[in-house]
Amino acid sequence: MGQSQHESVETGGTELFDRYTLPKVALTIILVASLAGTTLTLRLSGVGAVAVVLAKWGYLVALGVLVGGLCWKHLFVRPQDLDDTGSYCERMYDRFESVGLYAAGALALSGVVVLPRYWRSTAGPAVSGLTALVFAGLLVTFAATLFRSGSVDGQFRSPLGLAAFGSAVGLLVATAAAEVSLRGGAVDIVAVRTLHLLAFALWVGGAVWNIFVAVPVGQESPTVPVVRAAGQQLERFRWVVRFVFPTVVVTGLYQAHALFGWNASIYLHSTLGRVIVGKLGLIVVLFVIFKLCPMWRACSPIEGVCDLEELGGGEVSGDD
Ligand code: HEM
Repeated sequence: MGQSQHESVETGGTELFDRYTLPKVALTIILVASLAGTTLTLRLSGVGAVAVVLAKWGYLVALGVLVGGLCWKHLFVRPQDLDDTGSYCERMYDRFESVGLYAAGALALSGVVVLPRYWRSTAGPAVSGLTALVFAGLLVTFAATLFRSGSVDGQFRSPLGLAAFGSAVGLLVATAAAEVSLRGGAVDIVAVRTLHLLAFALWVGGAVWNIFVAVPVGQESPTVPVVRAAGQQLERFRWVVRFVFPTVVVTGLYQAHALFGWNASIYLHSTLGRVIVGKLGLIVVLFVIFKLCPMWRACSPIEGVCDLEELGGGEVSGDD
């Protein structure tokens, strides 16, 4: 590839990776919506203390970063997407180690506040004990992945990495069951809450990976293969988000109906009802962002890929 073409590729890549204000706005809205959900859930359990609300929210966000991040690491990133399997994936893995370390630390600290609440659950020690066990299992397996981090191929879908991913999803399910059982919830509500939280976790964790891992690493070397691989990863995430939208809305409405029925005056005049309506409004804004965001366009994984195809006109391999 000639000098001018190389420069154009760099420019195309830089434009791609600079264009991510909308994903940051989306992440902020997801965080606000989840804080509203956590406040709602705790209020309904008779807990209003700000410290407890923040601890529970921090716990869910930290868990979401691990669930969504490990999903991106083992499902969306495919080392074989690139010829130079080494550096690009390796730098993303390294960066996720730092992000994941903060998330695991926040989870460990907030868990001290969140988990003891579950001993009061109607399901008793069964659910709360299991939750504590999976919680410990996640922290141990994730810490082990940090100490045993080897080559990209050695880490990708390694038994330890998959065990950490499975533990993170397991903790999410256990937390949903424990939280619902605090209010004596039925099996259908446990299932619906699990889906609501799973959708939230994949969304928030994917958004954090995209903004704090994929984009900064891509900016370091925005070559054609890297931009192309980034586009493929983003497209995989985009497919997940397509399922997240209906899941969050349907499970959210199901929970709202279980709480208040379809009584319009509750949604218009009570604080908790207005919180639910507010969340519906936020999901509409997120949907508009999803449609507008140039990084998530339906016609192509990312706009930069189209630009690069115009520049390169076909097969491109390697950095030269
Ligand atoms: C914008 C995306 C959304 C996110 C990130 C989100 C996240 C959450 C979270 C984290 C919780 C707390 C669960 C817990 O503490 O166990 C929650 C609860 C809840 N969410 Fe959402 N949610 C979203 C959208 C919606 C929508 C659109 C609705 C309804 C139309 C909804 C209705 C509810 C309800 C009713 C609860 C409380 C359930 C209960 O405690 O019985 N959510 N949400």
